[in-house]
Amino acid sequence: MNLPDIKEARKRSKKEVEHIYLDQHYDNSTFKNKKYFLRTYGCQMNVHDSEEIAARLESLGFKETEELDDADIIILNTCAIRENAHDKLYGFLGRCKHAKSIDKNKIIGICGCMAQEEGVVNELMKKHPYVDIVFGTHNIHELQDLILERSKKQNIRVYSCEGDVYENIEYKRDSSVKAWVNIQYGCDKFCTYCIVPYTRGKQRSRKSKEIIKEVKDLVKKGYKEVTLLGQNVNAYGKDLEDELSFAELLQSVADTGIERVRFVTSHPWDFTDDMIDTIAKNDNIMNYIHLPLQSGSDNILKRMGRRYTKKEYLELFNKIKDRIEDVAVTTDIIVGFPNETEEDFNDTLDVVNTCKYDSAFTFIYSPREGTPAAKMEDNIDMKTKEERLQKLNELVNKYSLENNKKLEGKIVKVLVEGTSEKGENKVFGYTETMKLVNVSNAKEDIGKIIDVKITDAKSFSLDGEKCK
Ligand code: SAH
Ligand code: SF4
Ligand code: F3S
Repeated sequence: MNLPDIKEARKRSKKEVEHIYLDQHYDNSTFKNKKYFLRTYGCQMNVHDSEEIAARLESLGFKETEELDDADIIILNTCAIRENAHDKLYGFLGRCKHAKSIDKNKIIGICGCMAQEEGVVNELMKKHPYVDIVFGTHNIHELQDLILERSKKQNIRVYSCEGDVYENIEYKRDSSVKAWVNIQYGCDKFCTYCIVPYTRGKQRSRKSKEIIKEVKDLVKKGYKEVTLLGQNVNAYGKDLEDELSFAELLQSVADTGIERVRFVTSHPWDFTDDMIDTIAKNDNIMNYIHLPLQSGSDNILKRMGRRYTKKEYLELFNKIKDRIEDVAVTTDIIVGFPNETEEDFNDTLDVVNTCKYDSAFTFIYSPREGTPAAKMEDNIDMKTKEERLQKLNELVNKYSLENNKKLEGKIVKVLVEGTSEKGENKVFGYTETMKLVNVSNAKEDIGKIIDVKITDAKSFSLDGEKCK
């Protein structure tokens, strides 16, 4: 077993990453009439990994079930970004243990970012022997073998070193309208609070020709939208020789003719003028940018290792707003980082008041073992952290509502994705600027981009009617 050594991860020398083309086929009658239950926590990266996991399970003959008790194999794809991830895992394991006490042939599997944490794997081995398989983020391609090889012993496959880049991966995509496309794996930024570089390894980019091939294939299959995925998409290609820059990749993806191109996440550090120009001049690259701030205080930004100042962030923000027509910008913010003073927090509020974000994900800082920030004294009490979060959320929601209200009475383009939970005759979809819209009288338009008149705006969604 090869477990992640968080202390060593920072010092790791660059490994020669191989680009491997998968061509192994499995017998899909092996688990005929058997069912799988798959639960996913975490970011889009994990959601997309689960699309791969589902395809791998189906290649062995498993069919999906929504009922845990019906499942012959239960897989939990975990996230490690904040401490409450542990509570979710152990809460879920309780249910698995119960299910297995009724049917001892059930297979229980744990994967995802928590499976890359040494402490978690040790605990699973010691205290949760009914867990049959554990596989890390670099070992998803081994899932079928892990299942086929299973024995009475726990089968653990977790590589600490970043994995190779695999091509020809099959996915069972959740949507037939929009698709995730990985463009890079891992992250080299090592923000001091963040566990991702340890759970996902160093940055490895896919080759642009493989990305374009995948997008062209999606266009052929009728997909209307792709989202290019990576933890720091604008650093795309920097780990490869003679590769396109992210701006050039965006242009090539736009040139495939796909109707909508999105990308997440862009770090303010690598955001180039070329990127802004490329987004501005291509109608099919959406005018929506997620630009994580994390903090508005130079002091805190420095200790977070974010590599930009409040002034630099605001300059970039203004450039984006000036050059990209009607662009929507969203962000991520952490409150209660060690030593965050009232003044530091006010700097964050100040940036929010300046940028008036379309929306923001806000978090209380959660120390992650093995990261540099976890060694800093966490000297802000929980009450203060919660008060700051509440104050921040009130401000963020105020601007979300203000921005959304501006759309009332306007006509916007919506890609209709499916039926809405908001009423029988309603469907839902997203605007070009990534706002959720519930639309009446457009049931026959699933999979299409339609004009919608916005009738009502709330903080987190819009209501609209299809234009005749
Ligand atoms: N690669 C992306 C972020 C991925 S994690 C980026 O750099 O923007 C998503 C968000 O989780 C981060 O933007 C951050 O706001 C939050 N986050 C990460 N680590 C955290 C921690 N230890 N405590 C609280 N929030 C955290
Ligand atoms: Fe984490 Fe920073 Fe990498 Fe984002 S850029 S994944 S916050 S280390
Ligand atoms: Fe969570 Fe891993 Fe994503 S820690 S946020 S699932 S990269």
